[in-house]
Amino acid sequence: MEKAQCAAEVYVERTLALIKPDAIDNAEEIEEIVLRSGFTILQKRKVYLSPELCSDIYAAHYGKMFFPSLTAFMSSGPTIAMVIARDQAIAYWRELIGPANSVKAKQTHPGSLRALYGTDDLKNAVHGSETFSAAEREIQFVFPGATVDPIPTGEVAMQYLSRFVNPILLTGLTELCKQKPTDPITWLADWLIANNPNKPNIQEGLLEEP
Ligand code: TYD
Ligand code: MG
Repeated sequence: MEKAQCAAEVYVERTLALIKPDAIDNAEEIEEIVLRSGFTILQKRKVYLSPELCSDIYAAHYGKMFFPSLTAFMSSGPTIAMVIARDQAIAYWRELIGPANSVKAKQTHPGSLRALYGTDDLKNAVHGSETFSAAEREIQFVFPGATVDPIPTGEVAMQYLSRFVNPILLTGLTELCKQKPTDPITWLADWLIANNPNKPNIQEGLLEEP
């Protein structure tokens, strides 16, 4: 019970990560770094962002000198768009990508993605939403119709877990401790499948051909 409650209090957040056209050849490597850094990739697609969509994403920079070159660059080739999640995803991803200017990033944040894969202040390899509201907005732009309901956390998650998950999990964990199998995870996975209270009661022969 205590463990499940702790887990529910971890705030899982989502952010939009873009691998920009200049880093498309390094996409696999960057994805590996994303996963190694504790993120889950919830959604991923290769997109050709139109100049209009880029203008929307970077609307806050409208009117700045670099705006036309920014939208031209962002729409110059394919982009890998990902919705990534972990606790404090927005801040962690921003930290991992580093400062906007890749030349400066190479000096001050040599391990950052922009230092590793970017070139200058425009071609900087990756994007990350800056705030929670920007993340929601940008995810909607790139994954229209995607569910952006907040992942249940805190009280809601606790109620959900204690109602649907904890009782069966506790029974399973108790049994696991009694039996102490050599591969506890596989044992628990099998036990959960065998003891799923919502398991449909399908009688053989009644299944219709698809
Ligand atoms: P900005 O929001 O400052 O950086 P970040 O991407 O870290 O949120 O700027 C948005 C993008 O605009 C940046 O990734 C690259 C481009 N840009 C330029 O081309 N020239 C500039 O001088 C700046 C500040 C940004
Ligand atoms: Mg920005």
